[in-house]
Amino acid sequence: MLAHVTTFAIDGLSSRRITVEVDLRRGLPAFTIVGRADAAVRESRERVQTALVNAGFEFPQKRITVNLAPAHLRKVGPGFDLATACGVLVASEQLPAAALEHWAVFGELSLSSELRHCRGVLSVAEGARDAGIAGLVVPRDCAREAALVDGLQVAGVTRLQEAAAILRGEPPPELPPPATRSPPAAEPDLADVRGHTEAVTAVTIAAAGAHNILLSGPPGTGKTMLARRMISILPPLTRDEAIAVTRIHSVAGRHVGDELVRRRPFRAPHHSISPAGLVGGGSVPQPGEASLAHHGLLFLDELSEFSRPALESLRQPLEDGSVAIVRGQRTVTFPTGFQLVASTNPCPCGFLGDVRCRCTEADVARHRRKLSGPLLDRMDLLVQMQRPKAEQLEHDVGTPSHGIRADVLEARERQTHRLAGTGLTTNAELTPRLLRELVRADGAATTRLRLAYEQGTLSARGHGRILRVARTIADLAGSQRVREHHVAQALSLRQEQVLDGALAA
Ligand SMILES: Nc1ncnc2c1ncn2[C@@H]1O[C@H](COP(=O)(O)OP(=O)(O)OP(=O)(O)O)[C@@H](O)[C@H]1O
Ligand SMILES: [Mg+2]
Repeated sequence: MLAHVTTFAIDGLSSRRITVEVDLRRGLPAFTIVGRADAAVRESRERVQTALVNAGFEFPQKRITVNLAPAHLRKVGPGFDLATACGVLVASEQLPAAALEHWAVFGELSLSSELRHCRGVLSVAEGARDAGIAGLVVPRDCAREAALVDGLQVAGVTRLQEAAAILRGEPPPELPPPATRSPPAAEPDLADVRGHTEAVTAVTIAAAGAHNILLSGPPGTGKTMLARRMISILPPLTRDEAIAVTRIHSVAGRHVGDELVRRRPFRAPHHSISPAGLVGGGSVPQPGEASLAHHGLLFLDELSEFSRPALESLRQPLEDGSVAIVRGQRTVTFPTGFQLVASTNPCPCGFLGDVRCRCTEADVARHRRKLSGPLLDRMDLLVQMQRPKAEQLEHDVGTPSHGIRADVLEARERQTHRLAGTGLTTNAELTPRLLRELVRADGAATTRLRLAYEQGTLSARGHGRILRVARTIADLAGSQRVREHHVAQALSLRQEQVLDGALAA
């Protein structure tokens, strides 16, 4: 008898419908899987056979052929185990075929017939809904994640026997209760940072308008400290953002056991990372750090230590908000809507401008050349941090994050209101046309910017960046119009000497 079971294969961040056909024939016992299956799928023969026997079913002593259709799509991972096992049960008449019209199944089996957590369950559930399938059987650990999709009946099962019972017509079990979350560990707070009034303001502006920011300064002044605290002043994820983040983290295997990712992503990859690790890649394309930081922060600490190819690979994702990875005939697109935060020392020893600096001019020039010019041109705020003074370290009390966060939230609300209907939410995303239509700079502000452009080293892109940052400064101040002092502050927060030479290099 021939059995057909519907399951799904992960393809980038979405999923494709796969039909598992199982055929039983008389002949010497054999178990073959065909249909562009990778090693993990072919290994599923051993898992399925052992799991069926351990679950108390009979493993048919016949020629078993499993075909994964459509054949042109590459099938990877262990998610086909459950579908194969159900197919064998239906083909050997241990289960009725009728239920498989209602249910799709997805999951990895253990030898003892338990179902294991799988990557990409949210994408699978979305695929099932889009394919018009009524119900989906998944491992119980991922049931709440699948249930995020409306209009799909989700059954979370712990063992193969439970899946079989549902296919025999028994009612599916209730969804598991939400995972009990331990109270979130206290986030590092901006109040810890002493001195650096200007840098804290810059970080506030960056958070309010989702602008990219580079912090430069000598070692031990608090660059890393400040950047790591930026997450504490960002607004919470909206539901749509949380679903987008969950989809990516689930496919990457970094989201286990709960329904939604709730914290804004903060990714701080080490500087030895490869371009593929940063923007995604691999023979079966996987999202990289830039995608894992979607709707959150990508923090590149010690920017000059990153390899040039890695930094250059960020150019397109920064500009487009997504990265396209081409493998053979197929293109996979991952979103990369991250906010970039970077830190660097001004020279190899870090003490440029101080008597302690031992670097030659050539050393400094080499160090700056290492910072990719085009990448720096995409930074909205360039901030030079000096060593805090002794009395600041002793007596200064930093502003706590919750107060700053309230200002950021208000500024974000003004932006969302202004951008209603455009599909955008922050000033950093303003397109050149929207910049002209919506920024509303007054005469003095425009003149100030023109002067700066004519005298300085601003690129045309830099010109737009100043306007966007000035718009955010005005939003933080609650001003409808962009005034001259907003532009002046935006200009002062783009301290070109941080790059001096790097842009020209
Ligand atoms: N402004 C500051 N206020 C309070 N503590 C500070 C400040 N700057 C530095 N520190 C202390 O010094 C430690 C080191 O700071 P941090 O790692 O942020 O330096 P950095 O600027 O990133 O240096 P490097 O260039 O070597 O990476 C911090 O963990 C903190 O304890
Ligand atoms: Mg540091």
